[in-house]
Amino acid sequence: MEYRVKVNGERDKMRTPYYLIHENILDDGIKSLKEALGEYWPNAVVGYSFKTNSLPWILSHMKEQGFWAEVVSEDEYELAECLGYSHIIYNGPVKGKDSFLRACKAGHIVNLDSARELVWLREAAVEKEVHVGIRVNFDLEAMCPGEASEGEEGGRFGFSYENGSFQEALDELKRIPHVRLAGIHLHCSSKTRSLNIYRAIAQMACRIHRECGLKLDYIDVGGGFFGGLPDKPQYKDYFKVISEVLSEEFSPRDTCLIVEPGTSLVSAPIDYVTTVIDVKATNRNQFIVTDGSRIHVDPRMRKEHYFYHVHRANGSRQESEEHRQIISGFTCMEDDRLFCLEDEPLLACGDQIVYEKVGAYTMCLSPLFIEYFPAVYLKRGDETICVRERWTAHEYMQGTSNRSEG
Ligand SMILES: Cc1ncc(COP(=O)(O)O)c(C=O)c1O
Repeated sequence: MEYRVKVNGERDKMRTPYYLIHENILDDGIKSLKEALGEYWPNAVVGYSFKTNSLPWILSHMKEQGFWAEVVSEDEYELAECLGYSHIIYNGPVKGKDSFLRACKAGHIVNLDSARELVWLREAAVEKEVHVGIRVNFDLEAMCPGEASEGEEGGRFGFSYENGSFQEALDELKRIPHVRLAGIHLHCSSKTRSLNIYRAIAQMACRIHRECGLKLDYIDVGGGFFGGLPDKPQYKDYFKVISEVLSEEFSPRDTCLIVEPGTSLVSAPIDYVTTVIDVKATNRNQFIVTDGSRIHVDPRMRKEHYFYHVHRANGSRQESEEHRQIISGFTCMEDDRLFCLEDEPLLACGDQIVYEKVGAYTMCLSPLFIEYFPAVYLKRGDETICVRERWTAHEYMQGTSNRSEG
């Protein structure tokens, strides 16, 4: 598969908006992840979380690093196969039956999440031993008050430890011939991404090991780490805590630690570049219209602030400061407003606003709304390489028929 198209200087001007991947930042993050694991739990596997950013170039790059694919649907599973991944971690509640059984038989890591997967295993009546894991649903909010992403409502994935469903699933597995429990999966989403979360996850793994008397080949602590932010915990801080707690019950000699990072790897290295296309005053506001959109950097409309910088194009400028400039996007939605620039000289057409650290849950969550997917470029040293061309009406129409064609 070929994704690389060189940008030849002026001739192929890079049309905004586009995403820009800084390969050096991406690779620095990968290196610090590998070093931290090597120091604190050398028997470790990294499963890159496909859903966080499934750009094919990124997925291939992660494979080249020796990372496994962490997928949560039949489509993602098939994408991993298409890209030639030979190691897959299959998670989530909506696995397809075919790919679920294929993955179990192929010896991939499959973490059960729902009752129907136990039924599929029983019905399949496998004759050769297969190994599976179970996703544990546990009360993170009770262990880390105020930190679990769903708070008092609790998480919805996996089998509940507290209400006995996890034990029932273990019992059912024991009754299915040729199926053996190989590991547990304890990913938790949190509001804080704090070290406490990973302390709690590791404590839970130890508790389950002690109470259920399990022989486990792997503990999968999932993803959810910070990455690329100097004032936040670093990989070595997370793995130090995890290793200190896990060492009470496990050792790297016998038990593999699986991690499933997404955001921590791909958020920081990716920018989104936009250009000012109009400067418009109304009686109430000064609007700066750009060719970018909030749907490309905050598709869930939740962010309260952005990391960004502004490149002012050359030309004569008003030097006095504008009190407020509302930076807005290309969609026709009134709420496509990104931020308010305060007490800065007025922006002008041709100026660029570059949003930083926007690689996670953006490209893969953006809708095909009004404009299609932007191009993605890779910055490698002095070179800039196109790793995804901008989508046009042509890509949008692929695989569909229209009335004029009958
Ligand atoms: C099971 C699982 N693993 C890994 C991840 C990746 O998390 P993050 O992108 O926060 O690292 C998620 C995200 O929700 C997940 O659900």
